[in-house]
Formats: sequence, C-alpha cells, structure tokens
Amino acid sequence: MTAPETGTTTTETDTEALRERALACLTTARARTTLLTTCVDEPDLTAQHSPLMSPLVWDLAHIGNQEELWLLRAVGGREAMRPEIDSLYDAFEHPRAERPSLPLLPPAEARRYAAEVRGRALDLLASADFHGTRLTEAGFAFGMVAQHEQQHDETMLITHQLRKGSQALTAPDPDPAPPFTGPAEVLVPGGPFTMGTSAEPWALDNERPAHPREVAPFWIDTVPVTNAAYQAFIEDGGYTTGRWWDPRGWAHIRRHGITAPLFWQRDGDRWLRRRFGITEPVPPDEPVLHVCWYEADAYARWAGRRLPTEAEWEKAARHDPVTGRSRRYPWGDADPGPEHANLGQRHLRPAPAGSYPAGQSPLGVRQLIGDVWEWTASDFLPYPGFRAFPYKEYSEVFFGSDHKVLRGGSFAVDPVACRGTFRNWDYPVRRQIFSGFRTARSEAV
Ligand SMILES: [Fe+2]
Repeated sequence: MTAPETGTTTTETDTEALRERALACLTTARARTTLLTTCVDEPDLTAQHSPLMSPLVWDLAHIGNQEELWLLRAVGGREAMRPEIDSLYDAFEHPRAERPSLPLLPPAEARRYAAEVRGRALDLLASADFHGTRLTEAGFAFGMVAQHEQQHDETMLITHQLRKGSQALTAPDPDPAPPFTGPAEVLVPGGPFTMGTSAEPWALDNERPAHPREVAPFWIDTVPVTNAAYQAFIEDGGYTTGRWWDPRGWAHIRRHGITAPLFWQRDGDRWLRRRFGITEPVPPDEPVLHVCWYEADAYARWAGRRLPTEAEWEKAARHDPVTGRSRRYPWGDADPGPEHANLGQRHLRPAPAGSYPAGQSPLGVRQLIGDVWEWTASDFLPYPGFRAFPYKEYSEVFFGSDHKVLRGGSFAVDPVACRGTFRNWDYPVRRQIFSGFRTARSEAV
C-alpha cells in the first residue's frame, strides 16, 4: 500500500480565503497579460511572428472569450456577450497558422472586451459560494480560468522569443550561483508511490485521480543538463552520429538541418544565443533550453543514460521516503515562493544549475520545479480512472503516442499553473517551447 497523498490546507476550504486566492491569481495573470501585450506596438500585436504561434492579439481576446464562456456563461448563467466572435477564438476551429487571416478584433477592441469580461467575472466572484457543482466547488472554474490565462501568458512569451526585432521585455537576472559540486545523481528507492492527485482543488483533469504506481529503483540527475554538458555532446559529433538518435528524430534533424538547440548560432569557437531580442554568449552553467524530445533522447543515449519516465520524474519530485507520502511540491506542501523555484517570468531565463537549494526534494534533487520544462520518456496517457472535465478538448483529445510529457514548469510558468502533479505535453519535434531535460538510469545498469 502507498501512503495517501498530502491534502490541501484547511484555509483552502474557507470560502473567503478561496475568494481572495482566486482574485489574487486572476489579478496576477491579467497584469502579466497586459505587460506582454503593451510592450510592443500595434503591428507587432497583429503580426504572426511564427506559423507555430497565434498573433498576440488573438491570445488576448481568446483569454477574454474563455473567461466569458466558463465564468460568465457556465457558472453565472449569463447570455453570450458577443456570440459572433465565439468561433474566431475557438482554438479547435482554427489552427494557429490560419488565425492571422481571421477577422480578429483589433487590439483596442480586444482589450476592451477582455476588460469588460473581467469586470463582470469579478462581480460574480464577489458573490460566488463555491459549492453546488463540480465546476464551482472550491472555486475550480476561477482557478481553471486563472491557469488558462497564465498558460497563454507562457505561450505569448514564446511568441516574444520568436519575434524578430529589438528587445521589448526586460527582467532582472537570477542570482549567480557557485558551480554545483554536489553528487551528480541521486538514487530514488523502488516501490510504490502515489502519483497524481485527488485532493488538489484546482488540479486539472489529466492530473487526476491519485493512484498507486510501482517504480523500480533508479538514479536521476541532481540538476538539469547544462549548456556546457550539451555542448560536449555537440562537439563529440552528437548531431552527426545516427546511432544516438531515434530513427524519426534522425530523419527530422537531417531534413531540417538541425545542428544545435534552437536560437543558437556559432561564433568562431563559441556559441551565441538569441534571447528576447538580444544576442549573448551561451552561459555554460545554465540548464539547456529549446531542445526537442529527440535531442534530449539522443543526448541521454550518448551519455549512456536515458530520459526518466513520467512516473520516475514525479516520484523524484514528490515522494517523501521518510513518511511515504507524496508532497505537493519537492520542498513540501507550501505554495512556491521565490526561494523555492524560478517561476512566474520573474526572470526571463533559467537560473544556474544547482540554484534553489530550499526547493530541493527530500532526496536532494534540485530545480524540478521551474527553470525549464523537462522532457520525459513517456507518452501523454490518461491515468487509471481518468474522467474528462470540464471539456474533452483540454486533455482527452491529446492522449496517445503523438505527444511526449514534459514536467516541472519553466521560468515562464506561473505558480498557479505549476504543481508536482502538473502535466504538459507536446510533439517530440517542438523546441520553441521552454524545454530542457535531465537524465536517469536504472539502478541495475
Ligand atoms: Fe486557450
């Protein structure tokens, strides 16, 4: 038997505390959305900076439209404010590549619409009782909408990274850290642990339910793979040696001429990278960023290791070997603070490997939360007992072998959308996302 997962704090069952938390999360999200959509001019808002991304002005009105749909209409029972725009902002009706050709709301109108929805949503929040239906229980719909907005804020930050032109965003760098001198890897004991959650009130459908998972003992990197380590792979002919690569990945990098992480370029005997409009030397001690699953998988094979499975990653992040319980976060059950992890776009880059000792897991694994999304070996699949909620298009339509799971969140992710149980997924060729990885090996090897 596994010990039960750690529950939520009692204050979260208190209506006023929930109301305050929902208000704070919605307000934080809107401040970030506003910054991301006011730091560039109007042509930049309506342009498509990459066929992989929407114009920023689409994200802005889509955020408002989803908030209207789930809070004003589904929870509040209101009529549609502008039924004619619903289909424009339905992500499933229009793939990203075709969104610039739609008759989108111009920036001023998109701002006005999103603000009007928000005003009405806050009125609703002021009188919400958080009971009655699964959508309203513990303020779930408000939490879901805040997470949705923050997920688009991450998406918009990716658009900013892909955008050509001068620097539009600034943020302080993370604190420098001395080179990490601890053990390179940590042994995670075998046996069952509780994966997923049934207790976290704002957890999304794919994180549910909590269930026992058996994991064999394995070793995992103490810190994410760094740029310096990744450069050693490149210098050793990593991108020209087929045996390190999954055959589909090998075909992909050859077809597209990929020889380094996205946004990297060679400058004599050193590497430079482009980051939010500036070009700078690649910092050796920072976790590698903008690699696809195939690159992570090839590096791991070259290093004589492998990517951790999703269950291994979560056990390394949540399992407390003393109590047998699964924690909300590696450091315990407290919400993330700046001492625990690099989250919330506080910095626009990962922190040096080995940072945030206060955020390490009971076994001493660091930076599992924040900095870079970590590719895992696993396909995105439902947990036993999964039930789609509140809509199939959130997770269910993505289950299968097309998508690989990423865990832990990046510097671009807000705490409201980051938990030890939170699951992200993407195609194995994607690397415009803030993705890195760490490696693992089975104990017997
Ligand atoms: Fe969305």
